[in-house]
Amino acid sequence: MLVNAARQLDRSHHVHGQTNLRSHAEEGPAAMVVSGKGVRIVTDEGKSLIDGFSGLGCVSLGYDNARLVEAARRQMEVLPYAPTFYGRSHPKVAELAARLTGMAAVPFDKAMFQCSGSEANDAMIKFIWARNIARGTPQCRRFVSRWRGYYGNTVAAVSLSGQPHMHAGFGLPMDDFLKLSTPNWYLNAEAGESEEEFSARLAAEFRDCVETAGPETIAAFFAEPMQSGGGAIRPPRGYWEAMQEVIRNYDIHFHVDETVCGFGRTGHMWGAQAFDLTPDSTTCAKALTAAFFPMSAIMFKQDFFDDLMARSDETGVLGHGFTYAGHPVGAAVALEALDIYDEIDLVGHVRRVSEPFLSGLEALLEHPLVGDVRGIGLFCGLQLVEDKAARQVWDPALKVGQRVQDAAHARGLYLRAIPPDRISFMPPLIISEDEIAEATAILKAALDDVWTELRR
Ligand SMILES: Cc1ncc(COP(=O)(O)O)c(C=O)c1O
Repeated sequence: MLVNAARQLDRSHHVHGQTNLRSHAEEGPAAMVVSGKGVRIVTDEGKSLIDGFSGLGCVSLGYDNARLVEAARRQMEVLPYAPTFYGRSHPKVAELAARLTGMAAVPFDKAMFQCSGSEANDAMIKFIWARNIARGTPQCRRFVSRWRGYYGNTVAAVSLSGQPHMHAGFGLPMDDFLKLSTPNWYLNAEAGESEEEFSARLAAEFRDCVETAGPETIAAFFAEPMQSGGGAIRPPRGYWEAMQEVIRNYDIHFHVDETVCGFGRTGHMWGAQAFDLTPDSTTCAKALTAAFFPMSAIMFKQDFFDDLMARSDETGVLGHGFTYAGHPVGAAVALEALDIYDEIDLVGHVRRVSEPFLSGLEALLEHPLVGDVRGIGLFCGLQLVEDKAARQVWDPALKVGQRVQDAAHARGLYLRAIPPDRISFMPPLIISEDEIAEATAILKAALDDVWTELRR
């Protein structure tokens, strides 16, 4: 098909999520990606770009991998589909459940599969409710999460998300989803407030929230180890220590969403290990299959499972499931991806290239546009500001972040600008040091382009 024809079909018939529908209807797709190799994507215009956002933070092994393709092909030949309802199973999903629980940040006993991060988080919300009903504490229904956090799009997961644009217009969030401040010290600290003082203030806010709602009503606290929603926000010093103290004091179920952080992004297999978190349950997705197949998982401990089992004794079954959950092709691809991660020591690689990645970006602090650079592993957020001393962001109407995104795109680097003018940079985990240097040079040139434009 002619590429222009594909653009026309897309404009006329394809509805895109997280997209301005009017711009798309008038201008067509922002980019039409036709192929990918290594860390690069190629557009219909023949333009090759380093993907500095790993698709959506998921393409851990880049865009070509013969082993993953072969694992999928083999599984499609042997058993292309099998349900996991009614106690039925297949070998690959059983093996994956054992493998994942065995390698988790804390010893988990059970894994359940879904197709996306949203479904996984939605399932977890339901199971926490089910558990509390089974334990005779049905009033324990409220979830606490953070503004700017992103946990998915399904009705409950989006209620957990702290993204106002995903609530407005849908009559959401549902009741019982409480929000805490984003741990963005650079932009949200009071004058003279240290990272530790800011962290203590946010933990006090958490405590107040629990006390006001009633500790007996708090079902769980959901969080990412490092928040990708809001633009790669590394937690400030002392944050997780202070927050986990509140969690422990009130005996709150702590669900850690590893959808982005899991499988090496932070230079640790799990984000929980990077920040010393002790989850009661967890979500993983995205890099579980290196994004070659839609698959996610939740994991929890035996005692949690026992409560669900007690409920299922009463009702006959666990009344929940998805047709494609535990898909054999997804399970085969995930098992192969996990083998590859081990064999190429992906976590070790991320640690090795993290130093040049972060130090190259930190050098951009010299640039007049860059106020803050904060990251870990291959996961970094850059805050663009108008006034560094006052930490004053630009007038949103100037769309400074979007301009940097566009300038980088024109020069061969795909990045994401997230309001207010935050650049989120998380390349595929296999990226080499040379490719990091190339991407950083492009970003620097894009910043120069926009700075010249703004001065004009
Ligand atoms: C932390 C986190 N949780 C959940 C989700 C939702 O995942 P999905 O888009 O696969 O539904 C995302 C998506 O980016 C995410 O970043």
